Amino acid sequence: MDASIFGNTPLQQCSYLSEKYQCHIYIKKEYFNPNHTAKDRVAWYMVKDAITKKLIKPNDTIVEASSGNTGIGIAYLAKQMGYRSCIFVTRNCSKEKLKSLQALDAKIVLCENSNGPLDKNSTQYQARAFTKINNNSYYTDQYNNPENCRAHYETTGPEIWEQTSRKITHFFAGIGTTGTISGIGKYLKEKTQYIKVVGVEPKGSILAQYKATGRVIKSDTEMEKIEGIGRKFVPGIINLKAIDQIIQVERTRTIQTAMDYYQHTGMLAGFSSAAVLTGLEDYCIDNPVDSRDHIVLLFADYGDRYLNSLYHTLNIKKTAYDEKFS
Ligand SMILES: Cc1ncc(COP(=O)(O)O)c(C=O)c1O
Repeated sequence: MDASIFGNTPLQQCSYLSEKYQCHIYIKKEYFNPNHTAKDRVAWYMVKDAITKKLIKPNDTIVEASSGNTGIGIAYLAKQMGYRSCIFVTRNCSKEKLKSLQALDAKIVLCENSNGPLDKNSTQYQARAFTKINNNSYYTDQYNNPENCRAHYETTGPEIWEQTSRKITHFFAGIGTTGTISGIGKYLKEKTQYIKVVGVEPKGSILAQYKATGRVIKSDTEMEKIEGIGRKFVPGIINLKAIDQIIQVERTRTIQTAMDYYQHTGMLAGFSSAAVLTGLEDYCIDNPVDSRDHIVLLFADYGDRYLNSLYHTLNIKKTAYDEKFS
């Protein structure tokens, strides 16, 4: 596998947002990776590590619990490199992601939830259980695998630092496994003590409380669904020192933000990217920014993965092809 196909994604200033907030705002466009998400980097690091440590051999099955994107990265590598893949996803995984997994020959297992290794109906529990009873399978386990953070510490962090000519003052990312923010935040904090690293998650997730109090507060509040981000358990790889603050956003407002961004830029932000935009708006209410600030927003994927969910209200004209084959 040629590692140079992963990463080195563009960072582009967004004139709409820069004008709106009167500072420099850049988008780190992770959808320029081969499978159009930041998770390509993570999948590559985890698989490379397993191969180096001789934990997998040709024809073995690589197993992952995923909201879809890491699974797609794993399935792609498995197909390219002579392995099989088995991906545990939740029932609300987008149709577009499921189709991509199918196209990559992944075995797909639909689970009730993604509530962590203690819940028998979760993707994480089921993935581990599958690996235990199936010889010749290996669980990459993005929630506990340090390669998840390392991928971002060694690649995305340095790219952002150089692409902003070392001027970055704020970094925003959606958080799920926390690999992105833990890896990039660690790198940037080693470079500058002035950086503010802000995570964004949906209402009902537990990581904002955990960051603020150091405790997990059990709550029955249902988590608002924003694909890719939000968890009811603390991922093993979280690096709290790399994160300054975690902001919670509402699903309905995030959908509205995505629509506004689309109206102004013509771009379809991914669901978690729209959450990042909402988090930025809330952050700026309490923490005014000015023309000296250089803010980077990580867009983990693109809105074409959510045409049937986030963007289902858009009036996308059906083509003759759709009429014939839908
Ligand atoms: C679209 C999207 N955004 C954000 C995230 C969260 O990134 P991380 O798991 O590194 O915290 C994910 C994770 O799967 C994702 O798929």
